[in-house]
Amino acid sequence: MDKKRIIIGASGASGLPILKKCLELIQADERYESVLVMSESAKLTLSLETDDSVEDIEALADIVLSETDIAAGPASGTFRTEGMLIVPCSMKTLAGIHAGYAENLLLRAADVTLKEQRRLILAVRETPLNPIHLRNMQELSMIPGVRIIPPMMEFYTKPETIDEMVYHLAAKLVSPFGVETPEYRRWKD
Ligand SMILES: Cc1cc2nc3c(=O)[nH]c(=O)nc-3n(C[C@H](O)[C@H](O)[C@H](O)COP(=O)(O)O)c2cc1C
Repeated sequence: MDKKRIIIGASGASGLPILKKCLELIQADERYESVLVMSESAKLTLSLETDDSVEDIEALADIVLSETDIAAGPASGTFRTEGMLIVPCSMKTLAGIHAGYAENLLLRAADVTLKEQRRLILAVRETPLNPIHLRNMQELSMIPGVRIIPPMMEFYTKPETIDEMVYHLAAKLVSPFGVETPEYRRWKD
């Protein structure tokens, strides 16, 4: 049986540990495979906020594609996917999606996801938010299949470590695709 593909885009906002956890969760569920596209800024931010190398992160993905490879599979709607998750999603990448400005593979894949009416999850991250950020999020959120899921900390599960908190944030992002998240503590479930 073919595995279900999820395109994972990573842009240069803060939150690269959440990307890593999302890839680990997909890797652990044998029904799914990940197709990773990292922007150059994501690679820089990774080096600034984690001890992981780009190779460490790429090793967690099933397929790794370059941001500049505009002829790769996800550039076409005929490439079968369950949809796309962008984690983290910078305000620049958000603006690119909002404007339909598909200048690289990450943005083209998001544009294709929208035109094919597939699921698009945006783990947007910036603070404070200006009116342009808020407008872009609000308008994209109106499109069926699009979900704006900022990686916001929660305390109701009483996390004791950053890793537990990161797990909860990542689980929220991959569970809409049906990926197993065994340690996800659902409220009263
Ligand atoms: C350490 C670091 C943290 C950053 N955090 C954010 C952020 O949280 N949100 C954001 O929109 N941009 C953030 N940026 C800026 C983006 O990396 C920058 O706008 C970049 O051009 C985004 O490009 P991309 O969307 O192609 O990855 C950060 C940059 C650095 C170096």
